[in-house]
Amino acid sequence: MARKPAIAQTVKSLRARVAKWRAAGERIAMVPTMGALHSGHLSLVEEAHRKAKRTVVSIFVNPTQFAPSEDFARYPRTFREDVKKLAELNVDCVFAPDVSEMYPAGFSTRIEMNGPAEELESVARPHFFGGVATIVCKLLLQCGPDIAVFGEKDYQQLLVVRTMARDLDVPCTIHGAPTVREADGLAMSSRNTYLSAEHRATAPVLYRTLIDTAIHIREGSSIAWALREARSNLSISGFKVDYIEARHAETLAPLNRLGDGPIRLLVAAWLGRTRLIDNIPV
Ligand code: PAJ
Repeated sequence: MARKPAIAQTVKSLRARVAKWRAAGERIAMVPTMGALHSGHLSLVEEAHRKAKRTVVSIFVNPTQFAPSEDFARYPRTFREDVKKLAELNVDCVFAPDVSEMYPAGFSTRIEMNGPAEELESVARPHFFGGVATIVCKLLLQCGPDIAVFGEKDYQQLLVVRTMARDLDVPCTIHGAPTVREADGLAMSSRNTYLSAEHRATAPVLYRTLIDTAIHIREGSSIAWALREARSNLSISGFKVDYIEARHAETLAPLNRLGDGPIRLLVAAWLGRTRLIDNIPV
């Protein structure tokens, strides 16, 4: 039966709730989101439930990870529907702070990272991972969960967050959960709602191209050849490719050959004005 989650809008009220659970010795999981929740987000909540007695979901569209040219203002905001979905999953608490609660006047700190934060997404969005690392660090310190669940959908983000938590000794396990897809293979994303009908019909080619590329590499094609094929296939289908790369799955260091380590294929490409990202293991 659905149970409406508690809504905390301030760090103080979040901490008061969490302190009670801690005193009772309960394990706590957190799922950070920007709302506009779909089945991908909800799968992370289900994973959190399996890992801990109490689940906190944060909903905060974080301005510091958007560039001025990006879609902060038009990012979908569906708070009431989000809370309804979370109630059905028996989430204990929704943390939904204002921008002024997270970034009060005088806020002056930003986490800067290299390693997994370099290249790939950072080429097109150089501001992005600094904003993500800073907000996720704040959320983890505010809530103090034992575990936080992130989607492999944003694979580079998952590694950035894991590295940030390790480097800054944030006492929280970062757990990665698999990408949830539409029936035709398109990775679920709040931004899919921006796609025109025509682009929506083309979008699954992104995932199919990743699958084909992984097969080529596993069957012995050179990585460079397989990536060239993929790039040309995406262009022919109407995508404008930002990158398609094969990287070490744990460090995102470049890889030249199958056998040099576990490989992750990562892609970002535009359909019209919508930028899609996806990734799969080889
Ligand atoms: P958001 O895009 O709302 O995503 C929240 C979480 O849901 C992320 O961990 C993301 O990887 C995961 N997710 C999104 N689509 C998914 C899918 N199809 N399958 C599985 N998981 C999926 O990512 C962010 O918000 C922000 O950058 C945030 C980490 C909250 C910091 O502001």
